[in-house]
Amino acid sequence: MSPLATLSPADIHRVRTSFDLMWPRSTEMADQFYARLFEIAPDSRTLFRSDMTRMKDKFIQTLAVLVGSLDNLTGLYAVAGKLAVDHVRYGVRPDHYAPVGEALLWSLGQQLAGFWNDDVEQAWRRVYAVISARMIGAAYPDHRQG
Ligand code: HEM
Repeated sequence: MSPLATLSPADIHRVRTSFDLMWPRSTEMADQFYARLFEIAPDSRTLFRSDMTRMKDKFIQTLAVLVGSLDNLTGLYAVAGKLAVDHVRYGVRPDHYAPVGEALLWSLGQQLAGFWNDDVEQAWRRVYAVISARMIGAAYPDHRQG
């Protein structure tokens, strides 16, 4: 069964609505995302060599593309797969995906405050699970995901 089968229309709706709500504060969200990531996964800090302001913009923009592709399996998988293969060159390992997911959810929760609840959080969790499983599968074909 495709992992996408676990994404319901309600999940997609919750993720899109919350992402749109967060959008005006995406600079703050990206700041908090990287601050949190470097706190919980300090070893990932040295992988980032480029200008962080531009990196934050690229991250948010790519996230927007992924969120916009949630109901288009082919497009989502193509974008996520290519992105992940590029990430191998940056020194990213499969085990980096979990802390990135935690930092992402945490920073979204911070920015969405009153709108953030269990349903929204679980929807993001499932969406990130689908995206990261695809990224890891595409970039590290021999890796076994637990
Ligand atoms: C949904 C997951 C992710 C998204 C949307 C994402 C997005 C991006 C984007 C758009 C870039 C710039 C690529 C380019 O234009 O060349 C990038 C670079 C990078 N990402 Fe990610 N990424 C994700 C996951 C990760 C993970 C798990 C790590 C592990 C720590 C990571 C670490 C990096 C690093 C080190 C770079 C290169 C930074 C540099 O050039 O200094 N990313 N990412």
